[in-house]
Order: sequence, then C-alpha cells, then structure tokens
Amino acid sequence: MVEIAPSILSADFARLGEQLAAVERGGATIIHVDVMDGHFVPNITVGLPVVRSLSRATQLPLDTHLMISEPGRYAELFVEAGARMVSVHIEADPHIHRTLAAIRKKGAQAGIVINPATPLGALDEALQFADYVLLMSVNPGFGGQEFIETSVEKVRRLRRMIDERKLSTRIEIDGGVDKDNIGKIASAGAEIMVAGTAVFGQSDPERAVRELLKATMQLA
Ligand code: DX5
Ligand code: ZN
Repeated sequence: MVEIAPSILSADFARLGEQLAAVERGGATIIHVDVMDGHFVPNITVGLPVVRSLSRATQLPLDTHLMISEPGRYAELFVEAGARMVSVHIEADPHIHRTLAAIRKKGAQAGIVINPATPLGALDEALQFADYVLLMSVNPGFGGQEFIETSVEKVRRLRRMIDERKLSTRIEIDGGVDKDNIGKIASAGAEIMVAGTAVFGQSDPERAVRELLKATMQLA
C-alpha cells in the first residue's frame, strides 16, 4: 500500500498542529520529521522536544529521519519521545545492527537510510534487521531539491533484492517527490513517499496530499 508521509521541514513551524490536521484530512498516514544536527548534514532543524509535542498533536505515526552523527546515542530517545518509526543513516553508524535492534526493542519500526551515492551493496548485511529502507533521492540537508532520476532504478533494484530474499522490508523514498514523478516511483516498488515542498510548499496542503495520492493511483 502506498502511503504519503508529508515532511514538516517545509511546514510553517508556528502552525504545526494545524498543518498536521490538514494533511491528515487529505489522506496522509505518516508524518515525516527531519532531524538534522548541523554536523552530519549542513543544516539544523528540530529534536526531541518537538517530537514530544508532535506526538501529542497527532494520532498519525511519526517517522523520525535522523540526519545526525552518532545516531546510536539518540535513537531510543526518539522512540521514548513518541516516534513510531526511527531511521538511521548507514553512513553515520558503524554499529547500525545494534542501533536497529535497540529501536525495535523499544517498540518502534527501525529503518536504514542510504544516501544517493551509497550503493545498495552497503545494505547487504543489515537489510534483514530493518523494517524499512529509506532511499534518499536528494542529498540530505535541505528541502526543495531536485529529484535524482537514477533513484527510480535504485528503487527497482532494491525491490528485487528484498523480494529475492523473501523479506517484508518496505521502501521509503525521500527528496524531490512530486505529482509528476510519484507514479513511476510507486511502480518501481516504493511504498512510503516523503514529500515536503510538494505538500507544505503548496497553498493548500490538504489538497496537495490528495493530488499526490491520485497521481500515484493513476500511474502506478
Ligand atoms: C531532506 C529531507 C527531506 C525533505 C524533503 O534532507 O530528508 O525529508 O524534507 O523535502 P522535498 O520533498 O522538498 O524534497
Ligand atoms: Zn527526510
């Protein structure tokens, strides 16, 4: 099942509660929260207190995408703060097996994130320990970047890898997703579509989610 996960990075931070309600009305089923530390990526966003408040403001599962150095030190804290999905960059964590296990033990879904230049081979050993893989289709750090076209083929190859291993790992895609490319991304095998600009960068985020869902059905 394809799900839309609006990224609050492009939302109005002074009206987050309202904006979450709007995308939920539009059919969003996951809220994507980009956590950046100004070290692993060249930008700083939000952390634990904001996740805590968001978890009180919505019933939708919070998907925290940790773009931070030493994610193993913080991953469990995000689950305690209310995140139901926590993903960790493989480039940032030499002990990702341990971090994924810790996230799961706390009761959340554990995800591995890989950057556009990281080959799928990097997932080889850890894939079976993750509930989902987040493929970056832009270099992490900022919203509003252009979708890297080769990501579609990468989704297709990852889908094959997961199916060959008979795993139930889901594929999430993040960066530059819009109503023109979402159909082909879905037909390549991605199920969780993160969209920042294509939702909160629009004048009517509720309608924007509805249109993304429609574009997915039409072209998938
Ligand atoms: C980028 C973030 C994304 C970002 C996507 O580092 O991980 O989640 O918010 O924004 P758009 O959809 O505008 O590319
Ligand atoms: Zn993200």
